[in-house]
Amino acid sequence: MSKIVSPEIVSPGRKPELVPPTDANIARAADLLRAGELVAFPTETVYGLGADATDDRAVASIFEAKGRPRFNPLIVHFPDMGAAEAVVRFDERAEKLAETLWPGALTLVLPRRTDSPLSLLVSAGLESVAVRVPNHPVARSLLKAVGRPIAAPSANRSGAVSPTTPLHVAESLGDRVGLILAAGRCPIGLESTVLDLTGADPVLLRPGGVTLEELEALLGTKVLTPEHQPPSADPDAPKSPGMLASHYAPGCPVRLGAHDAAADEALLSFGPDTFVRGGATRLNLSPQGDLFEAAANLFAMLRALDRPEHSAIAVMSIPEQGLGVAINDRLRRAAAPRGPATLPDQPPAP
Ligand code: TXA
Ligand code: MG
Repeated sequence: MSKIVSPEIVSPGRKPELVPPTDANIARAADLLRAGELVAFPTETVYGLGADATDDRAVASIFEAKGRPRFNPLIVHFPDMGAAEAVVRFDERAEKLAETLWPGALTLVLPRRTDSPLSLLVSAGLESVAVRVPNHPVARSLLKAVGRPIAAPSANRSGAVSPTTPLHVAESLGDRVGLILAAGRCPIGLESTVLDLTGADPVLLRPGGVTLEELEALLGTKVLTPEHQPPSADPDAPKSPGMLASHYAPGCPVRLGAHDAAADEALLSFGPDTFVRGGATRLNLSPQGDLFEAAANLFAMLRALDRPEHSAIAVMSIPEQGLGVAINDRLRRAAAPRGPATLPDQPPAP
């Protein structure tokens, strides 16, 4: 079976190779993964940079390709809950959430089994593993074809905006990934919710595609957020290492809570914006004020507005409820001052 891919997204002979997710290409991607190579693939949240999670060398090459600090552990993806049970221990809470919300945009941090075949690098020295069963037909077919768990962070350089299209992956990772399974835009557009279930209380490590309200309703308890947690004694080993203040950062400064925009600023609006003045370039996350639409557009629009001619990206307020919590989380990180913990979105010096 062969499919025609529009010429502007295929550059034959040049890495990375973008291919449509045909059965033959999924089989090829699975072969590459089993041989220890990296493959980028779509999930319902964002594109992932995958490696065989049982192969130390392959997992190490993820950290290298992303320029990711080694203390930041990776999410491991499975075709179903049964496969995840071989590497982590589920308690009743985890079972309930997995049975209800998987496949889907929820990642559970659970205690690692001592006999787990996973590379120790995926957990970055922690006794836990973050596990997820994605809900994207291409991700699911790939996981079944590989027959091994796939470690996959978002397919971008560390600290940069996550990719929601195959072109974002190619722009961000260049030739650091050989093959990209290109299946268009990711329907959710924000990363999964990360929930830590290793302690007595469930702790939200990252808001994402599944809302806090949904989790609390299913668990019947409050979910703690990192603000409830005592600060980590060792700044180099945060409990939730991905929660560095500046992350998901575009190159342009980001200004939040904007009511208008200067002539040389870009405006990112939400809901009706005809009353908002200014903006050299204007994009609207969702003219109807729909948070799902806004989430799906967020990263692509931040990238589109991230141009040297803009002095800043001015962003209108987004309601802090439902998916708006995750959207605001990413926007606050995009606006946060760039600390030393953030790596530049550039290749390391040769
Ligand atoms: O939607 C998603 O989750 C995407 C797709 C590809 O599945 N993946 C993703 O991965 O966003 P990444 O690596 O960009 O983010 C993983 C987050 C980080 O914040 C990391 O610190 C946290 O999960 N994490 C992973 N393992 C952990 C662990 N054992 N304990 C605590 N946090 C963990
Ligand atoms: Mg990421």
